[in-house]
Formats: sequence, structure tokens, C-alpha cells
Amino acid sequence: MGHTASLVVLISGSGSNLQAIIDQCADKRINASICRVISNKADVKGLARAEAAGITTDVIDHTQYADRDTFDAALIEVIDQCKPDLVVLAGFMRILTEGFVTHFKGRLINIHPSLLPKYQGLNTHQRAIDAGDSEAGASVHFVTEELDGGPVIAQAKVLVEANDTAETLAKRVLTVEHGIFPAVIGWFADRRLQLDNNQVLFDQQTLSSPIQWPLAN
Ligand code: GRF
Repeated sequence: MGHTASLVVLISGSGSNLQAIIDQCADKRINASICRVISNKADVKGLARAEAAGITTDVIDHTQYADRDTFDAALIEVIDQCKPDLVVLAGFMRILTEGFVTHFKGRLINIHPSLLPKYQGLNTHQRAIDAGDSEAGASVHFVTEELDGGPVIAQAKVLVEANDTAETLAKRVLTVEHGIFPAVIGWFADRRLQLDNNQVLFDQQTLSSPIQWPLAN
């Protein structure tokens, strides 16, 4: 057995992506293990999922901190106890400071429910429907100072159907999120991914466009 990557996962809610990661770690489909799950909200389902898997959890409630800097400093302190190889934002709904992003640069990834650079920010599914897009999807990207703007590692696409609502589309996108996110984490764990000069290296090659997941064989 090679190296097992240590992960810290940050959540704010349901944690269905967290569950997909937990399951693939448990099945050894990826060479990773979750050291800690941190939520900025108490009593969310994602915390129960982590506890059910025997993972240490912390709640760091942003409302208890004077500003973003002190909140992020508290996060950094807890995360660093794990010395993680990778910090995973899995539905973590707080904007992070430049200091935080710099501290974890190259080992901080996020999943966003759109085909970036389209629809940074919120309400991505409604915006895709309103624009008449024929496809939607999810992007996994390295996090840099620009919100939802870091270099995209991989994307998964789904077709938008004529009768889709934001809810039905979100559900279909979430299903592919549960595949693409663990896959990217697995590549990172196997040291196939790097952030270099604001570009993604995959197997030492600069990506000219995001990897399309699932991979064609
Ligand atoms: C996902 O749609 C993710 O793309 C977005 O927040 C949602 C989190 O869902 N950033 P869950 O908590 O993993 O179920």
C-alpha cells in the first residue's frame, strides 16, 4: 500500500458529497482518509454522517467570531492539527479570506454546481435554465483568491431537459457531483494533480481545458 492522503472536509449542510467521499475512502476506491469534518453550522446532517462513520467533527460557528479573519484563523488552527494533504470544501457556504486561501494554496479544492466559468456564486441551476442552456453540470477547482474563480480541474455535464426546474436539475447535477468529487480527490491522493502558477498539472501536463468526467476509455 502506498501513501494514504489525509483529508479535512468542510461542510455547511446536508453533506451528500461528504458521504460519497466517506464511502469511497471506506471502499478503498481512493487512497485517502478523512481526519476531520468541520461545519460552520451545528446540527446539520453532514455532521451526523461523519459521526456515523466514526470521524472526528468540529463545529466552528462563524457567528461567534467578530470577523472573517478571526473565524478563518480558528479554522486554520483546527485544520492544521490534522496536517492534511488536502482540504476539501464540500458545500461549505462561507467565503474564505485571502489569508486562508494562501495558507492552503495548492491543497484546497471546491465543488461548484455549474460549468465554470459560467454561474459563479449562487442560484446556478435557475440561471442555467433561464439562459436556455442545453447542458449544466459541476466543476471541481483549486481554490484561489477569486471566488469560484480558481483553475478548474474537472467537469461533469448533464443535459438540461425541457421540463427541468432548479430542483430537478440540482438533483441530477448532485448525482454527478458524487462521482466527480471523489474521483478528483483520488487523483490528488495519487499525486497526479498539482496547482502550478495558477494552472492545473495532471500527470505533469498543463491542462488546456478541464478534464471531462467520467473519463472516456
Ligand atoms: C452541492 O451542490 C455543491 O456543489 C455546492 O453545495 C452543495 C452541497 O451539497 N457547493 P451537499 O451538502 O454535499 O449535499
